[in-house]
Amino acid sequence: MSLYAIEATGLIKLYKDVTAVAGVDLTVPAGQIYALLGPNGAGKTTTINILTTLTPPSAGSARVAGFDVVRQASEVRKRIGVTFQDIVLDQDLTGRQVLNIHGQLYKLNKTERQQRIAQLVELVQLNDAIDRIVKTYSGGMKRRLELARGLLTDPTVLFLDEPTQGLDPQNRAGIWSYIRELNRQRGLTLLLTTHYMEEAEALAQTVGIIDHGKMVAEGTTSELVAAMGKDVIRVRGNGDAQHFVQAVGGLPFVERVQADEGEGLVSIYVDNGSRRLVEVVETVGNNGYRVEDISVARPSLGDVFLHHTGRALRD
Ligand SMILES: Nc1ncnc2c1ncn2[C@@H]1O[C@H](COP(=O)(O)OP(=O)(O)O)[C@@H](O)[C@H]1O
Ligand SMILES: [Mg+2]
Repeated sequence: MSLYAIEATGLIKLYKDVTAVAGVDLTVPAGQIYALLGPNGAGKTTTINILTTLTPPSAGSARVAGFDVVRQASEVRKRIGVTFQDIVLDQDLTGRQVLNIHGQLYKLNKTERQQRIAQLVELVQLNDAIDRIVKTYSGGMKRRLELARGLLTDPTVLFLDEPTQGLDPQNRAGIWSYIRELNRQRGLTLLLTTHYMEEAEALAQTVGIIDHGKMVAEGTTSELVAAMGKDVIRVRGNGDAQHFVQAVGGLPFVERVQADEGEGLVSIYVDNGSRRLVEVVETVGNNGYRVEDISVARPSLGDVFLHHTGRALRD
């Protein structure tokens, strides 16, 4: 296998009047966790569908586990696992039946199925529930069962489309720890999509930020965030922010100002947040902008997104 578990060049996917993916390049080294972060409709699921051979690209090409997703689709399928954004489990089967059927589909013999199911049930901690019907599972248990199913064929590359969507923080943290464990123990390459910044931050070595089908920024979380400046002073208020934005942008210690009109939020990137706070507050007062809330923080991936797209990354 090549150095890269996933290599995509110039991926484009057109539906009738929608460009779902508009030229995505993506490389993921073997053994890495990569997060594709973006808002709803950004093109994340479509990108996963192309990489998992479910839909062909309109243009561009991709290799997964060393094989071309169009010309060698069945070779790719042998080496990947997928969990989908929407839960697609048969609710009237038991967890064990779901896994068994999946194993049969992939031609695992009975002994292999029994062994792997036992291991995976242990990993995702479904021991007590595996012989109950899926209908009785909580959302978190269903996600864990899907994770086990995605792993049943012992993939080298695992695709997780919004693996914790709709889960509460506790269940989310649980899934995160299984994902980390898989990556650590088996050297599994993982590509996950998410619209939760914290998820990308918590899990991924590399984050690709996607919007309107295009990659707008890529790097490690710390690289992306460091490029924004050291601290950010966030001013939420009302009134016309234009004069304030101009005035504050002229202060010598201000590196960058970003206004999100819709949110009434002005983000001011400075060398030292707590030291510069007073001067920023004074500038607000002199420019007819009424402050409701002001805070100092380290820049986040949300700021990176805002910077590259001019919009906030909302759920
Ligand atoms: N089968 C399809 N037919 C037409 N449009 C689609 C189809 N699948 C996705 N789209 C559109 O492509 C865009 C990207 O969708 P998707 O990849 O699901 O985004 P995400 O997963 O980031 O929310 C959206 O505008 C969506 O409506
Ligand atoms: Mg999606």
